[in-house]
Amino acid sequence: MLVVKEITELQELIERKRTAGKTIGFVPTMGALHPGHLSLVESAGQQTDFVVVSIFVNPTQFNDKNDLINYPRTLDQDLELLNQTACQLVFAPEVDTMYPEPDTRQFNFGKLEQVMEGQFRPGHFNGVAQVVSKLLDMVKPDKAFFGLKDFQQLVIIKALVKQLNLPVEIVACPTMREHDGLAMSSRNQRLTSEQRENATHIRQTLLAARNKAGDMSVKDLKKWVIDTINQNIFLKTEYFEITDDENLNPISSWESSLNKVGCVAVHCGEVRLIDNIVFE
Ligand code: PAJ
Repeated sequence: MLVVKEITELQELIERKRTAGKTIGFVPTMGALHPGHLSLVESAGQQTDFVVVSIFVNPTQFNDKNDLINYPRTLDQDLELLNQTACQLVFAPEVDTMYPEPDTRQFNFGKLEQVMEGQFRPGHFNGVAQVVSKLLDMVKPDKAFFGLKDFQQLVIIKALVKQLNLPVEIVACPTMREHDGLAMSSRNQRLTSEQRENATHIRQTLLAARNKAGDMSVKDLKKWVIDTINQNIFLKTEYFEITDDENLNPISSWESSLNKVGCVAVHCGEVRLIDNIVFE
């Protein structure tokens, strides 16, 4: 496995593989890797010949300065983990390499970026689009792998690829969870053991909500989820929304769309956790 920091080196190595007829798989990450990230790398290894992983904590997508400062950075450990996977090339650039000058591009994803995360993290998806468009342009993968854990991000990345006519297939990968159901996240490391124990209540509530769907109106179920999560004193729900899984329009009745996904953001102490569940 090779590790590079410069774009020219990255592109030379990939070009060599491409001319040898290899397909390129790409997994963008911000590091602090856990089995959720590694499952994306595994899928990339199964579906493509040469797997590239990027590790870059992208400053432009952090609307909260403290979150950027406190974001875990564990490069040595990440490289050790990746060494045991299908990953063959790691791109770990410096901020100046990715942004030699400020990126002033303003993307427009319409409604997709106005709901849920968009409401509470202004500018976040613009930053994600800035970095992912740069990375996809540098790597030019055949397939890029993203987690369903960040459901709204996945929908926005698909829209980005469409808007820019990028010749890449976006592959959605399932959410990996801890034994008690908590969605794996780099931010989980920042929970105290007490918070960590109580964070499982988020997934338990979403599972119970799925069982209740149909017995209650959408409006009542949304209120039930928020109230139930907030009954746990360690948790404070920021939003819970049930949307159409393609256009992210909030639904108002169970009949109104085919595939529905319930998305939640919850504060647990200083840490903001997100998760989602598909409603059949
Ligand atoms: P990061 O949070 O490091 O996540 C990298 C990828 O791993 C994303 O596609 C995310 O959805 C996926 N992922 C995270 N937790 C997961 C889990 N428990 N199961 C499965 N997949 C999981 O998302 C980002 O970084 C950034 O926004 C990025 C796309 C790299 C742009 O900076």
